Amino acid sequence: MAVVYLNGRFVQAERAKVSAFDRGLNYGDGLFETIRAYPGWVFALKRHLGRLKKGADQIGIPFEDDAGKWRRVMGELLQRNRLQAVDASLRLTVTRGSDVLGSLLPPDAPPSPTLLLVARPLDTGIAERQRVGVGAATVHWGDPFNPLQIKSLDYLYNMLATAQAKREGAQEALFVGRDGNIIEGATSNVFVISQGTLTTPPESCGLLPGITREVVIELAKREGLTVHEAPVPLGALLSADETFLTGSLKEIMPLISVDSRKIGSGDPGPMTHHLQRQYRAVVEEEQIQGMRS
Ligand SMILES: Cc1ncc(COP(=O)(O)O)c(C=O)c1O
Repeated sequence: MAVVYLNGRFVQAERAKVSAFDRGLNYGDGLFETIRAYPGWVFALKRHLGRLKKGADQIGIPFEDDAGKWRRVMGELLQRNRLQAVDASLRLTVTRGSDVLGSLLPPDAPPSPTLLLVARPLDTGIAERQRVGVGAATVHWGDPFNPLQIKSLDYLYNMLATAQAKREGAQEALFVGRDGNIIEGATSNVFVISQGTLTTPPESCGLLPGITREVVIELAKREGLTVHEAPVPLGALLSADETFLTGSLKEIMPLISVDSRKIGSGDPGPMTHHLQRQYRAVVEEEQIQGMRS
């Protein structure tokens, strides 16, 4: 039975437990290294630990890159799995550890990381493929799907962008593309209102198609408003009459400033207020319908 090393202890893989609130599981908030072990030697260990340490420092996860300690732990794990005399792979995973799910940002307290080391026999196909060679297929960005357009667990960038925005005194990070157009918020979609018209960036700009965005587009159209799904340059957002963010929890959230520059009057605008009320009406409508059926 496989043995793994988890948070300082060697445990049977089936008994190794990680919290349901682990941020690695919930947000991809962690890092990993895959390392090759040859009989009697873990190769390039210092380089792997160095890369892991560099990444961990960048995202603020404490990690001790003590090569001596890790060499001992890896040697013992390989031995316990009877892999010390064969080719093997080692995977070292470090996550920020667990906290109360629901808060995207980690608490200010120093994290207590989850450390997991798994040893596996090396894929036996590798030697054969080294002999005969392999083929590659080109995959173009966004094919078969754009990873930014699915709500995947890989939320590390969104989380760190939000943390940076908070440090700058803002509540949301706004992603701007290389073309200078707004894409979306780190946890929201964006709408601008200018001369009574609503504009929101199109899905084709690589945003997460928010459920709230969809509901707001539908309700605004039902209200007889003009809604464009079109590129929104940063300048257009800054000079808009009103702007708001949408998200399942935040519903319709007035966006009143960007990089400390006021938008419109600097207060939530009348159309945003109107849409907030209409959104609540849609929620109630669905509830009534749902309870009838
Ligand atoms: C990147 C991103 N865009 C948009 C949204 C809004 O999506 P929804 O309205 O489905 O909550 C979210 C939600 O967290 C998000 O993470």
